[in-house]
Amino acid sequence: MRMYDVIERKREGAELTEAQIRFVVDGYVAGEIPDYQMSAWLMAVFLRGMTDEETRLLTLAMMRSGDVVDLSGLPGATLDKHSTGGVGDKTSLAVVPMLAAMAPGEAFVAKMSGRGLGHTGGTLDKLESIPGFNIALTEEEFLETVRAHGGAIIGQTGNLAPADKLIYALRDVTATVDSIPLIASSIMSKKLAAGARCILLDVKVGSGAFMKTVPEAVKLARAMVAIGEGMGRRVSALVTNMDRPLGHAIGNALEVAEVVETLHGRGPADLTHEAVMLAGDLLALSGIAGAEEARARARRVIEDGSAFEKLCEIVRAQGGNDRALRDTVLLGAAPIQRELAAPADGHLTAIDTERVGIASAELGAGRLTLDDAIDHTAGIVLLKNVGDAVRAGEPVAVLHTATEARLADGMRTLSGALAFGDEPPAPAPLLYATVTAEGVTYADEAETA
Ligand code: URA
Repeated sequence: MRMYDVIERKREGAELTEAQIRFVVDGYVAGEIPDYQMSAWLMAVFLRGMTDEETRLLTLAMMRSGDVVDLSGLPGATLDKHSTGGVGDKTSLAVVPMLAAMAPGEAFVAKMSGRGLGHTGGTLDKLESIPGFNIALTEEEFLETVRAHGGAIIGQTGNLAPADKLIYALRDVTATVDSIPLIASSIMSKKLAAGARCILLDVKVGSGAFMKTVPEAVKLARAMVAIGEGMGRRVSALVTNMDRPLGHAIGNALEVAEVVETLHGRGPADLTHEAVMLAGDLLALSGIAGAEEARARARRVIEDGSAFEKLCEIVRAQGGNDRALRDTVLLGAAPIQRELAAPADGHLTAIDTERVGIASAELGAGRLTLDDAIDHTAGIVLLKNVGDAVRAGEPVAVLHTATEARLADGMRTLSGALAFGDEPPAPAPLLYATVTAEGVTYADEAETA
């Protein structure tokens, strides 16, 4: 088989066979296919698309390029949750301890997370703002922590879907990231390799997400649910709003502090509501509780403090100092904290969420290349959300950073990300749709937060 012919077939829009797809993935991982041919093939896929069957075969080939974690030794349902990436999206930090507290001894959350890159934040960077927290457990330590405490969060092990790592790096520099078959296979190859039987996907849509429209996001969600269900896993997806950051805080320690508030029942309404939906729906997917009962349990573990205590327990088990969660002053604070004021009387009418994420990275909270160091105390706290009334000169956000130069960059970008006007926009839903193996259910007004 020649790579030239496989590229040509895809360029002409033909459906590739299993043997051809495996040839591409295995050949690229083995270093036998050069970057220039792989780039051409990725662009052909980007432009021509893939059938559901091709996407499934690509996912399997990528999953099988490395280790597949065996969670079958855990004595209960194994759960995983994945977000397609957003700004201020700290739900994993809340959902993992919530689930462990909602069904102790029955539900086990073995979560492998990533770092932030570009405008999106990463769960690992947030966790590392807790002094001592270790994201690099061995596989044995990871499984033991999950077994003993009901949950753990670590970095993706080196050999999990290595094909995705290589292909993603190439997509990033060849303008082939935002393709539904390529995103679906990238995410699902890692989720399937991570081993959980029940997987809940949070597919973000809006100005801070890869998917800019609801139909596109639903299409991506359907593709991923079909792939996972086809592999014998229980998979469902929520399509949620990323036209504004989730909660008020963006930046690592600031987000950890907001999760602590949320698990104490004092968090922002949108973040609390989304955490309850995600934890509830994932427990329901496992069959441990029905949908209503599962969401009631999710609310209960916030009210009775058991989710917060579980977060402290998991943090301690992974070497972290839980005193920094009991007194979040110990997470540290940026030396410069400066307000951004509203330019005139009116309303905050829109937020360019991707630019808010970039502003936060410029302040030091994110990295523009993989080698950049993170300032864990840097970031943004939004004091106003879309639709809120503002007075001229009233603070709408507080920027946290270490230097005046970073402040100037972040302030300029954040100012350009916020739009003001006379009339508030119509309220936008938090949840647009739920996608399961049975089909798509569009959300009603009840999910607006
Ligand atoms: N997240 C991934 O892991 N892969 C993609 O392609 C996009 C988002």
